[in-house]
Amino acid sequence: MKGALSRKIVSKFTIFILLVLQGFVEPASDAANKGVYKVLNTNGVPCVIVQADIYLYLTYQTNDSEKDVVVHVPTSSTVDKTISSCDTSITTSGLSVSAQLLRINLDHMSGWTIDFAFTKDNTFKTESGKEFTLFQVNVTANFASDPKSFPDPKYPVQNYYLHIDPTDLSDIGGSIFADVGNSYYCPSEQKYAINDNDKYGPMAYIKFKLTTIQAYMTSATFGTKSTCPSDQSSTDLVPIIVGSALAGLIVLTLVVYLIYRTFLPEEVLNLVNPESHFDSDSAEGHDNDKHSTLEHF
Ligand SMILES: *[C@@H]1O[C@H](CO)[C@@H](O)[C@H](O)[C@H]1NC(C)=O
Ligand SMILES: *[C@@H]1O[C@H](CO)[C@@H](O)[C@H](O)[C@H]1NC(C)=O
Repeated sequence: MKGALSRKIVSKFTIFILLVLQGFVEPASDAANKGVYKVLNTNGVPCVIVQADIYLYLTYQTNDSEKDVVVHVPTSSTVDKTISSCDTSITTSGLSVSAQLLRINLDHMSGWTIDFAFTKDNTFKTESGKEFTLFQVNVTANFASDPKSFPDPKYPVQNYYLHIDPTDLSDIGGSIFADVGNSYYCPSEQKYAINDNDKYGPMAYIKFKLTTIQAYMTSATFGTKSTCPSDQSSTDLVPIIVGSALAGLIVLTLVVYLIYRTFLPEEVLNLVNPESHFDSDSAEGHDNDKHSTLEHF
């Protein structure tokens, strides 16, 4: 009867621990939903890897109205090897920025591209040479290629671009960066403005999920993870939660055992360990007991 109850408690506890652990493991469906995009050096080693599930939020204009559309970047999209580069220069807002460039051609969406430009230039508040940042994101949307989804576009092809202001760091630039040699790691959803100012054309936002990004790489695999702020607290909690759960389990087991013991008849206890119930006046003889135990061996 008692045994059944404690087994019930233990199994409930086990389920609880499993649930806690499960919360921190990536669901399989999500893992299948991220694209991996690499820009390779001439020696075949990647200089940029972007691994993420990407969504675009675009303002799409027709002659008489505009709506917001969400485009999921197919994970089967590919890297444009002609445009992408490990060593190029991006001219924008009157600046010439030494950069690494990744262009993704959206799969099954002819004429749709996303450009990601990375730099170590300290104009972008990076510690020159020590950090890299994603300083510009441009999107080209060829609405005309899919009249069913995008009827009557005002402009068949629309460019969305991140306007560079060296005195005012963009959302993306201020968020997606890491030390050279490290990777930017951010599993949670992050949505950033590419453009939220009418002055620079129609609005565009980009959302990243399950993200790992590294530029200026010199080896084929990601460096040490540099976790984004919103995922830091939950990562720090994992060892604490798992630790407390295990500690709880140990205490529970101990308590159950001790309760179980108190219900055992005295003879059984003495049979198992005659020293477990020594009384206070035998304290002196304790040393001798130890000796005699040793002599047995
Ligand atoms: C993004 O578009 C702007 C405006 O057309 C352009 O100046 C800039 O060079 C482009 N940047 C990239 C990385 O393609
Ligand atoms: C939209 O306007 C452009 C020029 O302003 C015109 O050429 C085009 O035919 C118009 N499209 C529709 C669907 O009315």
